[in-house]
Amino acid sequence: MEIGTPLFDGSKKILLLGSGELGKEMAIEAQRMGLEVVAVDRYDFAPAMHVAHRKYVVDMMNSNAIKAIVRRENPDAIIAEIEAINTDALVDLESSGFKVIPNANAVRICMNRVELRRLAAEKLKLPTTKYAFADNADEAKRACKDIGFPCLIKPEMSSSGHGHVLVNKVEDVEEAYNESISHARGKGKRVIVEEYVKIDTELTVLTYRYYSSSTNITTRTIEPIEHKRPSYYYVESWHPSTVREEVKDTAKNLALKVVEELGGLGIYGVEIIVTGNRILFSEVAPRPHDTGLVTLASSDISEFQVHVRSAIGLPTPEIKLVSPAASHVILAQSENIWGPKFINVEKALEIPGVQIRLFGKPTTYEKRRMGVVLATGNNVEEAIEKVRKASSLILVK
Ligand SMILES: Nc1ncnc2c1ncn2[C@@H]1O[C@H](COP(=O)(O)OP(=O)(O)OP(=O)(O)O)[C@@H](O)[C@H]1O
Ligand SMILES: [Mg+2]
Repeated sequence: MEIGTPLFDGSKKILLLGSGELGKEMAIEAQRMGLEVVAVDRYDFAPAMHVAHRKYVVDMMNSNAIKAIVRRENPDAIIAEIEAINTDALVDLESSGFKVIPNANAVRICMNRVELRRLAAEKLKLPTTKYAFADNADEAKRACKDIGFPCLIKPEMSSSGHGHVLVNKVEDVEEAYNESISHARGKGKRVIVEEYVKIDTELTVLTYRYYSSSTNITTRTIEPIEHKRPSYYYVESWHPSTVREEVKDTAKNLALKVVEELGGLGIYGVEIIVTGNRILFSEVAPRPHDTGLVTLASSDISEFQVHVRSAIGLPTPEIKLVSPAASHVILAQSENIWGPKFINVEKALEIPGVQIRLFGKPTTYEKRRMGVVLATGNNVEEAIEKVRKASSLILVK
């Protein structure tokens, strides 16, 4: 392969559809590797835009907008960094010869809970929570009765726990269904009803595919990352996971199966729920995973570098864990601060082994993820203690 110089003829170019914190880390890795970086998002000053060669601010649900930018830029790889992208545009671009990472069909399936559950549970026969689908309140009642209470209603399309509603009794289903679909992406009326399980712990199995001329396409898993969530979104993760080896092996096998089925190139974050003696496939993100930010401290090659390498056709035959590590988010405490400021960063960095990533998001809303604290330690317990302490010190004003 030949890698040209950024902004000159023959440069290798990636185009990020979505320019959040994950995109920013990918852009930094791409810059280090001498690639040209184009960042696209629906709002200006998004994290990856701070470190890209060029940026575009457009509605990414608008197929014509995406296609026009891609044709103008003619990138070597289009990286889908968020879920809210017009997937028909990705399918069309792929069929006209553009490379979508991991691939357009995987992006389409992973953003849709119904399609993904069908693929994992019905086609691949992976263990999952009990589930049923519903298109209206009456069907939701039937589905909840079949699954049993408590159960969890989730919109067909949403992310970060939006529209997850826990239901305890049949009288509450109609309201819960309406609440759930009010948070759906687009105008979707379909929901999945899932058995609500008591979560002992959760794993993310980063699993990646890369091309090499000797072996063609290889799929590999990384040691699982572990995370516990006080709510439905990521707060803290650590690497490596402390679950038993058999649990890790089962989780890795589930991840390999689903990623080989989805195909393409790049990294996937496969989410696994551990409940009692059940190890369940939950869902998969066709991109670096937020809980995988910990790999910036734990691994010699981060999930972001892996994704960029795979995207442009470069191999990653091995990833080494260099230290036990943990990550903890820094959240905004209030709404609508423009140009927020972070205080006490110096106090956090007095703790040995602590690092910060402040994303550079231009505004806040309550609980918006504005940064992350990373730490290494002699073991994950020590690393977790450090990130808890450090993140509690940093305030967003
Ligand atoms: N059936 C369930 N029973 C109990 N807890 C659940 C169940 N499904 C999901 N959860 C909890 O909610 C979290 C978010 O669920 P899920 O991954 O399906 O939603 P999401 O909107 O895609 O969130 P994200 O984008 O953060 O991954 C899970 O990580 C888990 O902690
Ligand atoms: Mg999830």
